[in-house]
Amino acid sequence: MSLKILSGLEVSKHLYSQYIQKISKLKTKNIIPGLAVVLVGDNPASKIYVRSKTKKFNDLDLHSTTIKVENSTTEDDLIKIINKLNNDKKYHGILVQLPLPNHIDKNKIINSIDPKKDVDGFHPENVGLLSIGSPRFIPCTPKGIIRLMEFYNISLKNKHVVVVGRSNLVGRPISILASSKGEFLNGTTTICHSGTPDLSIYTKTADVLISAIGKTEFLTSNHIKRDAILIDVGINKISSNNSKGYRIVGDFKWDSISKVASYATPVPGGVGPMTIAMLIENTIIAAELYS
Ligand code: GUN
Repeated sequence: MSLKILSGLEVSKHLYSQYIQKISKLKTKNIIPGLAVVLVGDNPASKIYVRSKTKKFNDLDLHSTTIKVENSTTEDDLIKIINKLNNDKKYHGILVQLPLPNHIDKNKIINSIDPKKDVDGFHPENVGLLSIGSPRFIPCTPKGIIRLMEFYNISLKNKHVVVVGRSNLVGRPISILASSKGEFLNGTTTICHSGTPDLSIYTKTADVLISAIGKTEFLTSNHIKRDAILIDVGINKISSNNSKGYRIVGDFKWDSISKVASYATPVPGGVGPMTIAMLIENTIIAAELYS
């Protein structure tokens, strides 16, 4: 079986055409879905992510603003900014770009976002709702992964899904979502992490292997079984002699896995565009439910 590509770029284009109809419907009620992004400091990767997120909002004629604050901002000042946004009707969604500087307690900041505007799905109320099977906002990357597989008619039912990485952004929520009841879900999940001894014992049993560890080309054909479905969340920068001086690669070593896997997401063009599409989808949901 030759490798089939799971193209987030293609699927997200298809989704945007559906969103346009929802956006038009909201406009007839004078509602324009709006997102406020808070960017603390000058982390170069965060700046690029935020730019690509807000660009999509602009392309779709949605409302978005980026509030840039100094790296030295205090926790209290940041909470004041969030409180203002919580009470601003223009913004249906609030996203505080992570990571935050070390002097700021990420959890305190996430907890201060109105859970009905938490389009990232990181607030404990939304994490809890996902855990009990009544999700409100599902974190964008996990939701995008499921949507991507849905598009290619890949169900997780009767499949062993192995997740590598236990972050609150991706690893934990995708393991909860994949094992939830629902169409295309019902997977049996295992979660591996940096403390897992002999990772390949687990990864080799995966029908669907999801990597979110951010380690350049770490997983190879030695970690996977024949015809596995591979989902690569990694976005890793490596030096290159192209005009930019770098290129982006995933957690899987493409040349190695491409002869063994049945489906795989490319990097770039796989999970990344789906994450942005889901941010737009969650903001539209917030506008529909709570304006
Ligand atoms: N940093 C990397 N990914 C994300 C994300 O999905 N949301 C936020 N808020 N920060 C991030």
